[in-house]
Amino acid sequence: MAKIPPGVGPKYPQVVVLVGATGDLSKRKLLPGLFHLTAAGFIPGCRIVGLSLDNVDAEGFRVIAREALDQFSSRKVTEADWSAFSESLDHVPMSAGPEVLRAAVERAEKALGGESRRVHYLSVPSAAALAVVRLLAEAQLVERSRIIMEKPFGTDLASAVSLNAKLHEVFKEEQIFRIDHFLGKEPAQNILAFRFANGLFEPIWNRNFIDHVQIDVPETLGLGKRTAFYEATGAYRDMVVTHLFQILAFMAMEPPTSLEPKPISEEKNKVFRSMLPIDPKDVVRGQYTGYRSEEGVDPESETETFIALKCSIDNWRWAGVPFFLRTGKEMAEGQRIISIAFREPPKSMFPAGSGVGAQGPDHLTFDLADASKMSLSFYGKRPGPGMRLDKLSLQFAMRDTGLIGDVLEAYERLILDAMRGDHTLFTTAEGIERLWEVSIPLLEAPPPVRLYPPGSWGPKSIHQLVAPHAWRLPFERAWRDPNTVGS
Ligand code: BG6
Repeated sequence: MAKIPPGVGPKYPQVVVLVGATGDLSKRKLLPGLFHLTAAGFIPGCRIVGLSLDNVDAEGFRVIAREALDQFSSRKVTEADWSAFSESLDHVPMSAGPEVLRAAVERAEKALGGESRRVHYLSVPSAAALAVVRLLAEAQLVERSRIIMEKPFGTDLASAVSLNAKLHEVFKEEQIFRIDHFLGKEPAQNILAFRFANGLFEPIWNRNFIDHVQIDVPETLGLGKRTAFYEATGAYRDMVVTHLFQILAFMAMEPPTSLEPKPISEEKNKVFRSMLPIDPKDVVRGQYTGYRSEEGVDPESETETFIALKCSIDNWRWAGVPFFLRTGKEMAEGQRIISIAFREPPKSMFPAGSGVGAQGPDHLTFDLADASKMSLSFYGKRPGPGMRLDKLSLQFAMRDTGLIGDVLEAYERLILDAMRGDHTLFTTAEGIERLWEVSIPLLEAPPPVRLYPPGSWGPKSIHQLVAPHAWRLPFERAWRDPNTVGS
């Protein structure tokens, strides 16, 4: 196994209190992620105390964890690694109370021996978070601990402000890690590298050269067992006020004075402060046909499973440049792209019919998949006589580096950062509260949901929203497959 470079992992062994341990996120991401981090040697000792509403003991939790790894681990689960991981698992039902929880954490600490730290991972809906915080306080587990809070952080401005205030009664701000897993994605961090490690792009990264931006995250995924959570949340709170706005901030922020948590948060929060309130007229809310008959869904539900919107960042860099955001469930394709459309040349000297401009403006596109890609498209001459132009592109795929195996899954990266006390890729109370503030007009007067067929790109009115531009997806020209290029 590759040796882990020093400083990448935490100094001390960790006890993770995994709250919502038998839930969807825990099974899909957190248990597989913790398994990989421990098996690969990133953490110098780790024990997990699961906490959930389910009445299971340690043995029952091991069965659940094993099933989760078999189903969702993207890496091979060897019997030796599983046996060590399984040993480290324990579970306490929420109803057992603070003493039983404390005893389980103490047992875990004793098993680790020596000095250790605690990480409380709250994978629970926002409404349940405070009860858990109180339980942790009653169990006296605040000392030597950090707390990771899942999004959405509150459901509107008032609830986010109150959640922050109550949280601060128990945990100090430096103990709190508000997670947004999109910021842990390797390609999200690559936006920072791309923008600030090169002299080529930053001079054109503004309203003089950029026409509009699209952040587009359609999902083919349905809701599965998550309807109860989703029905009260919807696409705006689940994806936009969280992930899409955070990505937008990386894309739009000014260069930070350093890559430290404070300067990065300052610049991101300046973007949020410059955002104009979301005008309901610039929003299309959609719901896929059939959603209302799913289990746990109100037959008259107005929850959106799709949303597309235009937002504006009213500062010197971006005034007048529209940012179009779209995301939804049960859509035609699963993609996560940022697409930057450049202004077209002021005048064309190419003959009529040459094809210049016929395939849209030049685009810089980031694919935010784990095996990420980037593409810069431009017009070039078609080989042969005359002057015919074609849309060409320069493309880079992370696979080309040969290091794709080193990519940490977003949750793994962020859990490790929280264990090390590094806030760089986490969101702040101030930023989140401002995002709820710009959301007020939309939350107060949401436009009615429009139906869209599952497997489509959303309701028809999405085209009016971007006109005179067009949605970049579905792509006119597919990405080149790095495995077949040149063959
Ligand atoms: C989660 C949302 O935060 O992000 C889900 O709650 C969504 O609804 C998911 O499917 C998308 O994340 P990823 O990493 O699969 O793109």
